Amino acid sequence: MCGIIGVTGDEGALETIFDGLRRLEYRGYDSAGVALVDQGVLWRERAADGTHSVEDLVAKKAAPPSSRAGIGHTRWATHGSPTVANAHPHVDCTGRVALVHNGIIENHAELAATLADQGHTFTSETDTEVLVHLLEDELASGAGLADALRTTLGKLRGAFSVVALSTSDPELIVAGRRSVPLLAALGQQTGLVASDVSALLGRADGYFALDDDQVAEVRPGSLRVTTLDGREVDPTVVTVDPAWDVVAAQMGGFCDFMSKEIHEQPRAIADTLLDRRAGDGSLVLDELHLSPDVLRAVDKVVVVACGSSFHAGLVAKYAIERWARLPTEVVIASELRYREPVLHERTLVVGVSQSGETLDTLEALREARRAGARTLVVTNVVHSTMAREADGAIYTRAGPEVSVASTKSHLAQIVALDVLALALAQWLGTMGARAVAAVLDELQSLPAAVADALGRAKEVDDVADALLGARDYFFIGRNLGYPVALEGALKLKEISYLRAEGYPAGELKHGPLALVEPGTVVVAILDPLRDKMRSNVAEAVSRGATVVAVAADGNPDAGGDHVLRVPDVADPVLAPVVEVVPLQLLAYALARRLGNDVDRPRNLAKTVTVE
Ligand code: M6R
Repeated sequence: MCGIIGVTGDEGALETIFDGLRRLEYRGYDSAGVALVDQGVLWRERAADGTHSVEDLVAKKAAPPSSRAGIGHTRWATHGSPTVANAHPHVDCTGRVALVHNGIIENHAELAATLADQGHTFTSETDTEVLVHLLEDELASGAGLADALRTTLGKLRGAFSVVALSTSDPELIVAGRRSVPLLAALGQQTGLVASDVSALLGRADGYFALDDDQVAEVRPGSLRVTTLDGREVDPTVVTVDPAWDVVAAQMGGFCDFMSKEIHEQPRAIADTLLDRRAGDGSLVLDELHLSPDVLRAVDKVVVVACGSSFHAGLVAKYAIERWARLPTEVVIASELRYREPVLHERTLVVGVSQSGETLDTLEALREARRAGARTLVVTNVVHSTMAREADGAIYTRAGPEVSVASTKSHLAQIVALDVLALALAQWLGTMGARAVAAVLDELQSLPAAVADALGRAKEVDDVADALLGARDYFFIGRNLGYPVALEGALKLKEISYLRAEGYPAGELKHGPLALVEPGTVVVAILDPLRDKMRSNVAEAVSRGATVVAVAADGNPDAGGDHVLRVPDVADPVLAPVVEVVPLQLLAYALARRLGNDVDRPRNLAKTVTVE
């Protein structure tokens, strides 16, 4: 996720862009940049400070130009590390066109190869840079900037929003989008575009939303919107709540970051899956940096992680063992270091970490490298220490996660690990191309399934109302339901401060059942082993527990005092992605009812850099 902005007709264009970037910084902050046309010359400045790039950029401005139009960008790296060279805006070979981009261009590699053959020089590792060279070609053939953008966007696969400007028409900014939000706004003598309303508030009289495959031509005080084939359309008018301040807008109207991030999950999953398929339909993992030959030699996988990332690893064990037929061990990172683990050059050690900085996981990976193992990290932060030190990486593209409780990064981790499991299966030959493609299709259906699960929040709220007052929870599940139970219990204890234990359902009778009494809540993940789960639920019911069943729509006999239904998912390995959703919502609903600060729970930190 990145933030983009474009401004025209504004005497203080540079300051307006800086202000907009500060308001968009929650979308990404590892690098930032700005470009303006000043007296016929393109002026650009970029910074890549890692955490405070916008302020670093502001500090860098040597002599503010007198331009009235410009574009800006604040980046959360997905393709290419967060360096100044990779920071946006990107500029064409002639130095006359600049462009900023939010999203992923899936066919960038094919486009870049063709452009390079034609003599274009690339200066970054980003997927974005192809766009500015495509614009350059169109302009060279006599097209205007808007026509050039329409043609260019028509050549793209992926999800994106872009803003561009050129020296040939200095007061024109052009913008377009597909599957990624982009708003336009008009003042009396100004025009703006931005990733979201937070950057536009207080600067416009009217707001408009671009739809997929539309291009906006913005001039001072005027807006023209067309489809990619040049047909003019009326832009969709957006009503902005007059009570919104900038902070509320940054949270997209949600009360807190946790609920915003829960609702961003469909997008986080979709982005994590973008760019994973080659033209022939096979699986590609660009950022892996481990050759298929190295991976073919792997005979054991060890996943190391903490907290929610550990639970994602537990789900991955089922995927890797089922699809790639590789023995897989999942170890709590702090437990790996001091136990003399058996690791060697044929062991693939996978660190899973949202932040990429958790010390326990980092040290476990270092231990693995010292032992000669191949290391891979699944992380949300491209420039993190783990990403730099590991042999290879797979990036979750969840965007910055602010709330201490992991939500969107957790689901994105499961999906990224599924992609890894499929890639191993493809390289090891344990699955044929058609079987891999079928699972990839299933994965692509998950954003809609998660959106469906989120649409059932009212049912979860009703259950939370009924449970209020209970203090003891058991979350139980079997097989793939077990890591879901662990994650549900972790979410609940983390933000509601209620006692919550995650247990393999079959273990209940070996001890914990002694604690079950009237008033205890047992949350049972019924699938995939629904028949076996029925007897475990009966054990709890006969001790007076209140049972909340989590069951797929197609599960006919979901008993219990309350049932939280989730959409059916054809492949049971993928079901945890939807089953976790009502548990996140339940923890959130209970914590809010208890008056807790859900974004900053007591005693906890977002990134744990101590042992
Ligand atoms: O950044 P990491 O994924 O390495 O963090 C690991 C855990 O600290 C983290 O998942 C923690 O358990 C979350 N607060 C859970 O919501």
